[in-house]
Amino acid sequence: MNIEGAVVLVTGANRGLGAEYVRQLLDRGAAKVYAGARSPESVTNAGAIPLKLDVTSAADIQAAVQQCSDLTMLINNAGVVIGSRVLAENSLENAKAEFETNVWGPFNLAKAFAPVLSANGGGAIVNVLSAVSWMSIKEVATYAMSKSAAWSLTNALRLELARQGTLVVAVHPAFIDTDMAAGVDMPKTSPHQVVERTLDGVAAGLPEVLADDTSAFVKNSLPKHIETFYPKVAGPRP
Ligand SMILES: NC(=O)c1ccc[n+]([C@@H]2O[C@H](COP(=O)([O-])OP(=O)(O)OC[C@H]3O[C@@H](n4cnc5c(N)ncnc54)[C@H](OP(=O)(O)O)[C@@H]3O)[C@@H](O)[C@H]2O)c1
Repeated sequence: MNIEGAVVLVTGANRGLGAEYVRQLLDRGAAKVYAGARSPESVTNAGAIPLKLDVTSAADIQAAVQQCSDLTMLINNAGVVIGSRVLAENSLENAKAEFETNVWGPFNLAKAFAPVLSANGGGAIVNVLSAVSWMSIKEVATYAMSKSAAWSLTNALRLELARQGTLVVAVHPAFIDTDMAAGVDMPKTSPHQVVERTLDGVAAGLPEVLADDTSAFVKNSLPKHIETFYPKVAGPRP
């Protein structure tokens, strides 16, 4: 799909990866970029159109569909990590809060915008997922659950929307150098690289973007994921 001339909505566009999507979309000649944010006044890119959009709000989504009737690309980027172990005291509440933004947000937005994309020629939906769609990490286990569910959602949308010609793209990055991973002392991918690979992938019509070497490693390890990622619990239990 052509980025040049596209009309795009980016969720969580006020900072981090979302702000980088806005920048590069405008650089590549997108005709219009709606910058969705819980606080539209926090959108700083003057080339974008700020749009009040909390992805957990049905009313905000409905208003966005009214305002963005010319949309050709939806980028589900907004996300939260609370950082909960699966058996932590508040793990259910944390998991529900993460699912609200990371799963039901893209779910409701995709459902709401699918007819708009169809009316405008098919277009694309890009879902920002993670390497932890394919592996768990103890400290962010409930977040990883949400990204696995969002991966399944992405595959389901691809099946459903093929008939209307909508490209559905899964983006899998490992750690990215944004506020979300500020407390992580591990190698991080630049937002620039994640967005560049995403937009190259969309332009090439690819269904999946591996945003860095770590994500490629995690995906390629899936046939041996138990031994590779969970070696302490890989053997038979007595
Ligand atoms: N950073 C990483 O290591 C990493 C790795 C893999 C995947 N990802 C994914 O990449 C995406 C972007 O994350 P990031 O790294 O840019 O994180 P970030 O710096 O923490 O930014 C998160 C963005 O999401 C927005 N947001 C959160 N909840 C929202 C809601 N209910 N409605 C609308 N916007 C909401 C935030 O808005 P406010 O300013 O209002 O809070 C902010 O703009 C997320 O889907 C994340 O899961 C991140």
